[in-house]
Amino acid sequence: MKHFLDIHKTEADSLRDIIGQAHEMKNARGGKPRGAPDDEQPLSGRMVALIFEKPSTRTRASFDVGVRQMGGATMLLTGAEMQLGHGETIADTARVMSRYVDMIMIRTFEESVLLEMAEHSDVPVINGLTNRSHPCQIMADMMTYEEHRGSIAGRKVVWSGDGNNVCASYLHAASQFGFDLTFTGPSQLDPDENVVGAARRSGANIVIERDPEKAVRGADLIVTDTWLSMHDSMSTREGRHNLLRPYQVNKHLMSFANPDALFMHCLPAHRGEEATSDIMDGPHSVIFDEAENRLHCQKAIMRWCMGL
Ligand code: CP
Ligand code: NVA
Repeated sequence: MKHFLDIHKTEADSLRDIIGQAHEMKNARGGKPRGAPDDEQPLSGRMVALIFEKPSTRTRASFDVGVRQMGGATMLLTGAEMQLGHGETIADTARVMSRYVDMIMIRTFEESVLLEMAEHSDVPVINGLTNRSHPCQIMADMMTYEEHRGSIAGRKVVWSGDGNNVCASYLHAASQFGFDLTFTGPSQLDPDENVVGAARRSGANIVIERDPEKAVRGADLIVTDTWLSMHDSMSTREGRHNLLRPYQVNKHLMSFANPDALFMHCLPAHRGEEATSDIMDGPHSVIFDEAENRLHCQKAIMRWCMGL
């Protein structure tokens, strides 16, 4: 029984195996309709709880479809409707849910909720995003890069914008996948210095460059994300926008990257803010492949967790 809690908490070999299996399972489906079952049914007879304490389109839909394609059933629960939102402890919730389901995916606010759930659960727990990280997203991004350009090892990845939860998972991934990571953004919105320090200690080449044009020179992949995450207060919106405007990914900024650089965004995007529509819909962009690959990677993550 294995939890999937974070990129840096999972062995690099396991990450590779998961992505390898995701490619295989994607290819094996060929042109089947989305609702058609896979030839293999590893989750047959299994029940997976999908717990959401924050909104979601991709994570919710892709986990639900993925479980069903593999022969399993899903139970969707939202935090507000659970006793969890009304004072029941996370530990008790984890113990109870372990008696009903075979696996739990949770999207929540504080990382401590995820960790406590995993500590007290008898079944695998998967991190579907917390305020601090989003590992399933980065697995899909790594798979997407490989599909388009081959191995990401030794490549230059630039994160432009807010040093948020998705950025933290990129920092976790740098040494695991062997890419160089440059963060460009305002110092007020730097990624957590502990995460940067840990990434550097694990052998990753992490650069912080305030000038976005300098940062993206020679980039093979440019990634950005919303300027206001779900856990950020709306009252910070204007200040964040003022700080982040110079880091918008647009045609001018992209012109400093390598000509065949890719553009990624986990979505949902605010077009015209962190990235312009001509970039999101342009030749560098692979954003909808990323979204699709959430499905394939998460199917492989669930199989890995269950040892199936
Ligand atoms: N990228 C992502 O996790 O999207 P959702 O918030 O729609 O799940
Ligand atoms: N940083 C964003 C990612 C959404 C998938 C958020 O946490 O809202």
